[in-house]
Amino acid sequence: MSRITINPGERKSTISRNLYGNFSEHLGRCIYNGVFVGKDSPIPNVNGIRTDIVEALKNIQLPVLRWPGGCFADEYHWKDGIGPQENRKRMVNTNWGGVVEDNSFGTHEFLELCRQVGCEPYINGNLGSGTVQEMSEWVEYMTFDGVSPMAELRVKNGQEKPWKIRYFGIGNENWGCGGHMRPEYYADEFRRYGTYLHNYGDNKLYKIACGPNVDDYNWTDTVMQLAGRYMDAITLHYYTIPGSTWEHKGSALNFSREEYYVTLRKALRMQELLDRHIQIMDRRDPEKRVGLIVDEWGTWYDVEPGTNPGFLYQQNTMRDAMVAAATLNIFNEHSDRVVMANIAQMVNVLQAIILTEGEKMIKTPTYHVFDLYKHHHDATLVYSYTETQQIGLGDDQIPQISTSVSVDENGVLHATLANLSDEKAEEVELTFVNFVPTEASGRILSGNSGDHNDFEHPDAVTIQDMKGIRVEDGKLFVTMPACSAAELTIQ
Ligand code: AHR
Repeated sequence: MSRITINPGERKSTISRNLYGNFSEHLGRCIYNGVFVGKDSPIPNVNGIRTDIVEALKNIQLPVLRWPGGCFADEYHWKDGIGPQENRKRMVNTNWGGVVEDNSFGTHEFLELCRQVGCEPYINGNLGSGTVQEMSEWVEYMTFDGVSPMAELRVKNGQEKPWKIRYFGIGNENWGCGGHMRPEYYADEFRRYGTYLHNYGDNKLYKIACGPNVDDYNWTDTVMQLAGRYMDAITLHYYTIPGSTWEHKGSALNFSREEYYVTLRKALRMQELLDRHIQIMDRRDPEKRVGLIVDEWGTWYDVEPGTNPGFLYQQNTMRDAMVAAATLNIFNEHSDRVVMANIAQMVNVLQAIILTEGEKMIKTPTYHVFDLYKHHHDATLVYSYTETQQIGLGDDQIPQISTSVSVDENGVLHATLANLSDEKAEEVELTFVNFVPTEASGRILSGNSGDHNDFEHPDAVTIQDMKGIRVEDGKLFVTMPACSAAELTIQ
């Protein structure tokens, strides 16, 4: 049996709803033939944006969406994607499959998507191959309310009122595809570009610096030291890749028990990465003014056989759901510093929450985890301590039960639990400090580790009401089946 001790009176940080953000790049079928089908498509859409996807995103209360990349961002020239669609420049998407990018999805279309979903836009600017003027004018185009060349251009393109843009990224992976820069050089570039991103009217930008790849602690330290006071947040990118080489990352669907545990062990490394990057940030910014944003995370496998290798299309199983459930619990637990996270990516790419095929759309097991966890949005993390055994195979050992607990504005507790074992159910006892539960209900997602949804079986894996929750002597008992994630509502 595993035991979780919860002290609802010990309130910690606010869990920003932005920890449940997504990432969308001009990559494969994320945008085109994904969320954006164009106004003339027979697939139901509003202004070219798929209605079924918008409904699905509204259901999980998607808080924030990052765009246009990724590596694509540092080759993206925003002026190519405005004005009449038939006049927009066609270009090669050099990063992703060498396909033609016709720029039919640009600034207006992205902000229309955010409007329909009701989420905040997070725009990533081009520092790698763009110019300071270009980035500065993008902000002016979107947010200036008055007489200026960019504001006039926006009005001419049909958007009278400026948009509200808060989250703005200054470059992406500038240690790699964004220019192969050294941290010292990037820090100076960040300062220079940031200087010309103005706050117009009451639009206040939240300037996001490119952070490290995985465990590049020197990048964090140097950029924080040289540019920390000019930024609002710094990013971290970490992907879970079970295989040991890029050529053999592992299959999304056909994996062994060994690979299951390798994947989970690697995913849980997020804990160590956050702890160590945060330690550096705490030294450079003890007031915790600068946020940490994990704006690319998730599993990365070999593409599905027969699909374009540059499109990064992969299926999604209960293994991915376990990765998501455990990772989101880790984010919640670090919410005093981690202010946003964006899973890569939203539709048809990497650990997607949504997959499409023609007019068909399915929600992946990962989507359902985002659904289960939505009560944590903007709730307050409370103290919880989990006693559980290590499980796994060989060196790939992980704790069996992963947890986080929050209290919402009505004083209701929400605990999210994941049983990461692929074969053993686990009884869990929840005990409380200075609190006596009177009733509890739950929702659960469970299955075998390889279970997934496909276009013939869209609901093979889906959320069920949880049975058998017992409240006894001020304690709560639940049984978590093997490979399951659940949300408990406790009053
Ligand atoms: O998400 C796919 C790619 O991974 C992004 O474009 C890039 O930022 C990262 O390397």
